[in-house]
Amino acid sequence: ALKIIMDTDPGIDDAAALTMAINDPAIDLKLVTAVAGNVTVDKTTANALKIVHFFGKENEIPVAAGAKQPLIKPFEDAARIHGASGMPGYDFGDDYGHAIEKSAVEALHDEIMAADEPITLVPTGSYTNIAILFSQYPEVKNNIKEIVAMGGTLQEGNMTSAAEFNCFTDPHAAKVLYDSGVPIVMVGLDITLKALLTADTLDKLAGLNKTGEMLHALITHYGDGGAEGIPMHDVNTIFYLLHPEAITTKEMWVDVQTEGPAMGETVGDIRGAYHDGKTNAKVCVDIDAAAFNKWFLEEIGSIKD
Ligand code: BDR
Ligand code: CA
Repeated sequence: ALKIIMDTDPGIDDAAALTMAINDPAIDLKLVTAVAGNVTVDKTTANALKIVHFFGKENEIPVAAGAKQPLIKPFEDAARIHGASGMPGYDFGDDYGHAIEKSAVEALHDEIMAADEPITLVPTGSYTNIAILFSQYPEVKNNIKEIVAMGGTLQEGNMTSAAEFNCFTDPHAAKVLYDSGVPIVMVGLDITLKALLTADTLDKLAGLNKTGEMLHALITHYGDGGAEGIPMHDVNTIFYLLHPEAITTKEMWVDVQTEGPAMGETVGDIRGAYHDGKTNAKVCVDIDAAAFNKWFLEEIGSIKD
């Protein structure tokens, strides 16, 4: 199975991405680290623990708490989208265990260095933990296969005209990521706003099993999306890992803006004009939305809970 680490800020779509990563037999989730993003890091850590505990994996998948705030920019949450708790609408109880004592950065370092083969890093929140990791322990880069990161857009943002939420939240960390030299797959709004969960998928989800019921409850409290459907942004990373054939990518250089009105913008060198044809990322540009919906139901439906 593919060894991955998720760095996450649950968050409703993060919770769904974790659900897929925990349960799909083709993925071996080694560690979950939490970062401030959709809500504060104490809440994102608790929410990650709730999901791991929901599937009874607390002895197998450690959860570590990470950065409380972006590198430089003041912290702003997205509670208006994900609710005050970050995962509203379902009662996970009070007994969902504890984060390990190590910080996210120490846990990331130890897990990546101990791995017997290069590991895939899957960030679905802002990239603060990873930026700190790379500056403190640059040697980890050699043992990372690739980073499959939700965030960014070649088009309009969902925070500002230019910027997507994860990159807007910590633009300086996003710049560190894209400048790191580690292969990156940019799973941005270019596909996540195409792969909308349809009303029909949502209807079917609730009846599948306990997991479907849980995710349906969370998604019903999600402030993102509209009549055309609901974006499950972070889930697209896991879909990419399992079904790359359903996603079209384009290699290009991506620069991240850290100042001014374009702060957090991922500027893709679409014309290959500015970096002599050199590239630092595979950018996801198209997705088979029907295949995504079908897979979403199959994944959840196959969980024995
Ligand atoms: C990203 O922002 C967050 O609110 C979601 O969880 C996702 O990671 C989408 O822009
Ligand atoms: Ca997220």
